[in-house]
Amino acid sequence: MTAPIAVRLDGIARRFGATHVLNGVALSVTAGERHALIGPNGAGKSTLFNVIGGTLRPDAGRVWLDGADVTGHRPDLLARAGLGRSFQTTRLFARQTVWENVRCALWCGEMARRARPGAISRLAIGTRWLRRSGEIDARAWEVLVDLDLERVADTPAGALEYGAQRRLDLGIAWASGARTLLLDEPTAGMNRDEAARVIAWLQRASVGKTVLVIEHDMDAVQALADRVSVLVQGRIVATGRPADIRADARVREAYLGLPPAEEQP
Ligand SMILES: Nc1ncnc2c1ncn2[C@@H]1O[C@H](COP(=O)(O)OP(=O)(O)OP(=O)(O)O)[C@@H](O)[C@H]1O
Ligand SMILES: [Mg+2]
Repeated sequence: MTAPIAVRLDGIARRFGATHVLNGVALSVTAGERHALIGPNGAGKSTLFNVIGGTLRPDAGRVWLDGADVTGHRPDLLARAGLGRSFQTTRLFARQTVWENVRCALWCGEMARRARPGAISRLAIGTRWLRRSGEIDARAWEVLVDLDLERVADTPAGALEYGAQRRLDLGIAWASGARTLLLDEPTAGMNRDEAARVIAWLQRASVGKTVLVIEHDMDAVQALADRVSVLVQGRIVATGRPADIRADARVREAYLGLPPAEEQP
């Protein structure tokens, strides 16, 4: 049996004024797959994430999430449907502590999944949650330890240094409990050690989840992704395993800036 498709994009087009940024993007991400999206600056990667994540409507094309057509659905409805995302520019509750941010994401994830309108009274939900409070605390602490944030647990998120803010942003996306994660350049601006730690964490944390990740570093792509798609001028020009994509002549010229013939040690 073939695995179900978590994210399917069909003919996605979007322009800003006269600039055609997305030109008929087609892409399928299998459930449980880690899929990297690479491409030059301005290729339309973040725009595509905005279309999938519901912050931008496509001019044409459809977005499918777990088999349901979710084109144009609001971000909060998509979150309820199991989609989580981190942003190229971090978005956190700046005045809340690191601990409160992660704990809040865990609670909100629970709320989105459990609170079906009319299915159960608010009082019953509240009572159940109170009982689960200790469990939520334990999970929040695990996330902090995993992302090397435990020493800054009581620091307001807005006061963190950049790398820690990015790690917290990822932790929040993960803690929301989403089955499918869109991660926009999770290692951007980090030093090599920090980036390697985040990639190692993602390898562990993404088990059982579907991940679509924008990433410029080909070593990170190779370490993390099962498959890679290359977006150039708003079109997917190649999809394949990381090693094959690295060897693809079109990709080497269009994106990696390397000569077409592979002559590397
Ligand atoms: N809201 C917007 N209004 C006008 N133009 C936009 C808007 N969002 C993106 N663009 C333009 O669309 C193009 C693609 O931008 P996008 O951010 O999607 O690229 P990207 O592939 O994510 O690039 P990078 O690797 O630099 O993050 C750019 O030319 C950008 O200026
Ligand atoms: Mg971008």
